[in-house]
Amino acid sequence: MKKSNIIATIIFVLLSIACIIAITTCTKTPTIQDGIWTGSGEGFKGEMTIQITTKDGKIVDTELLSIKDSDFAKEYALKLLDTIQEKGTVEGVDALSGATYTSRGVLDAVKEATAKASEKKTKAKIQDGNWTGSGNGFKGEMTVQITTKDGKIVDTELLSIKDSDFAKEYALKLLDTIQEKGTVEGVDALSGATYTSRGVLDAVKDATQKATGKNEKSKVSYSDTETDIVVIGAGGAGLSAAVEANSKGMDVIVLEKMPIAGGNTNYATGGLNASETSVQKKLGIKDSNKQFYEDTMSGGKNINDSVLVETMVENSSDTVDWLLEMGVDLTDVGKMAGSTNNRTHRPTGGDAIGSHLVQVLENQATKQGIDIRYNNKVTSLIDDNGKVAGVVVETPNGNYKINSKAVIIATGGFGANPEIIVSYKPNLKGFGTTNHAGATGDALTWITDFNGDVVDMEQIQTHPTVVPEKNIMITEAVRGNGAIMINRDGKRFGSEMATRDIMSDAILKQKGKTAFLVFDQGVRDSLKAIEGYASQGLLTEGKDLKELAEKLKIDAKEFESSIKKYNQAVETGLDEEFGRKASEMPRKIEIGPFYAVEVGPAVHHTMGGIKINADTQVLDKNGNVIPGLYAAGEVTGGVHGANRLGGNAVADITVFGKIAGDKATEYVEVIEAE
Ligand code: FAD
Ligand code: SIN
Repeated sequence: MKKSNIIATIIFVLLSIACIIAITTCTKTPTIQDGIWTGSGEGFKGEMTIQITTKDGKIVDTELLSIKDSDFAKEYALKLLDTIQEKGTVEGVDALSGATYTSRGVLDAVKEATAKASEKKTKAKIQDGNWTGSGNGFKGEMTVQITTKDGKIVDTELLSIKDSDFAKEYALKLLDTIQEKGTVEGVDALSGATYTSRGVLDAVKDATQKATGKNEKSKVSYSDTETDIVVIGAGGAGLSAAVEANSKGMDVIVLEKMPIAGGNTNYATGGLNASETSVQKKLGIKDSNKQFYEDTMSGGKNINDSVLVETMVENSSDTVDWLLEMGVDLTDVGKMAGSTNNRTHRPTGGDAIGSHLVQVLENQATKQGIDIRYNNKVTSLIDDNGKVAGVVVETPNGNYKINSKAVIIATGGFGANPEIIVSYKPNLKGFGTTNHAGATGDALTWITDFNGDVVDMEQIQTHPTVVPEKNIMITEAVRGNGAIMINRDGKRFGSEMATRDIMSDAILKQKGKTAFLVFDQGVRDSLKAIEGYASQGLLTEGKDLKELAEKLKIDAKEFESSIKKYNQAVETGLDEEFGRKASEMPRKIEIGPFYAVEVGPAVHHTMGGIKINADTQVLDKNGNVIPGLYAAGEVTGGVHGANRLGGNAVADITVFGKIAGDKATEYVEVIEAE
């Protein structure tokens, strides 16, 4: 070969190699495949579906295929889809404030569609066999079993459920649908039982994943480890503490015994009380820390720990700002029983606060890289010569220990533990509860090893407006926005804005020991949370008062006359019969259709618990601090005295959760410096 030919061949080979390298790097197959993909998410009124078109790893087009939310919410959904399309991805796109539920539905739907676009073509094979799975319903965990054959679900069984018998019917119906379809894919939640349905769908998905050998949840196993701070409980108090401590540089592990975060905080509806806040100022609401303090003390019959109340009140405004900065929507401010001024902060339109708050805190914790371990139940504290030095944890895959410099207990109350309830207040035997299944008071036994003290244990609150059997609480905010209570004689029987203890007792004195919460379309329009009750089928509706009375089987004349008298009281600002204040009667009951819900009292809040000081340090029976041990939230006692005001618990858990994060951090820094 000629020298020039050899050089040309070498150049050709080198160029070819360079080309191959360039092609493989530049045309690396995008993880997101090109195509059209659909996804679904849960909005405010139920499922929505969207479609995305992907090209070269980007979302290039979006379409809203179906949505059950209002036209107003739909506008937000479309706006959010435009933002996603503009960015080419759903990553880093946040929910729009003002339409949190709808936004979450859109984001979930686009994420699901994107996940489909990223899936490998080969579908995981479903093996034949019997598989169990778990999900979380309204009252806690449920378990199901599925039988799979030839890639299909051929049989289903509901193994356990804590929800009401009414909800159980829905669960069985949904399982039948899944069995009929042979798959859980594309099966929707049943309207009227959203929580239960979600639990069933999650449980079947969990079982199906096991059938494909892909179940990550069941594979996670932990071994002994160490960290700076352990937080027990991923409710509002625990997540607030974890986020705060981690932002101050601490390594934090959060242990949660349930499969999901949120505990009772998930259920909080009415809102968060705070005074002298930036939001109140913007809305022109006059309020003061002094009045907030006085309302709380008088609501609690003055047995509250005044230092703790002062701490909650004084820190409430800063805590609201802290939450706003994180993205919590607290722009609507209403009123709950026992509050002199409007100070109950909640999402736009009077939406429920709890699940929104939990989602923001959980996202924040995840963003900060905090290790949250679900299905991890703490069984005891580690004792190092009187100092708390970690925890013992029980998981489905074995037990392990975490050594830590400090521990924050944020395990919530004991409202779902009838044994403890009745041991302190025997007259509550047989009462239902509004609480989630994990509110069992586990921490109360741990502290006895350290001579830990408790306070006000017999102070257990019932909520007056809970739907019998179903145990679904109807928020006090419905009364705050204008609803009244009517007995079976068609008459009012007290000031509906009296504190919960008074209203609960008054209801129990009526025929049938229940009453009807009555309101009109005007009240319904003023409070988004009511839509949740409507979608669960809880409202009895009458086109006029006569029809409603007939449906409730009460005397129509008495009923109409009671409403007339109440409307006069609204007009004059004087409720001569029962003394409901003018500021507590924001609107007449006059715009049809009219609505009613049968309600009665159920266990709601355990005011007593672990004794702490204002720095959230746990105290022993001699009033000394137990080194390394902090507690915050419903697990503690003292803040609410003999009767908690509506909206004060979410203030309590966020204010003291944050303080616990701060103070535990300071403690760790001191012992590290020693
Ligand atoms: P939780 O939110 O209950 O969290 C505690 C967590 O600890 C749970 O997730 C639990 O599973 C976990 N846990 C327990 N034991 C262990 C263990 N051994 N190991 C690991 N984890 C454990 N208050 C208001 O101020 N405004 C409202 O609008 C309002 N509405 C409410 C509505 C309902 C239906 C209910 C039930 C309560 C409402 N409350 C409201 C009260 C308020 O929601 C609670 O007091 C508050 O959320 C408690 O927060 P927490 O963080 O202390 O406990
Ligand atoms: C409710 O919304 O009525 C409950 C509020 C609370 O428990 O503070």
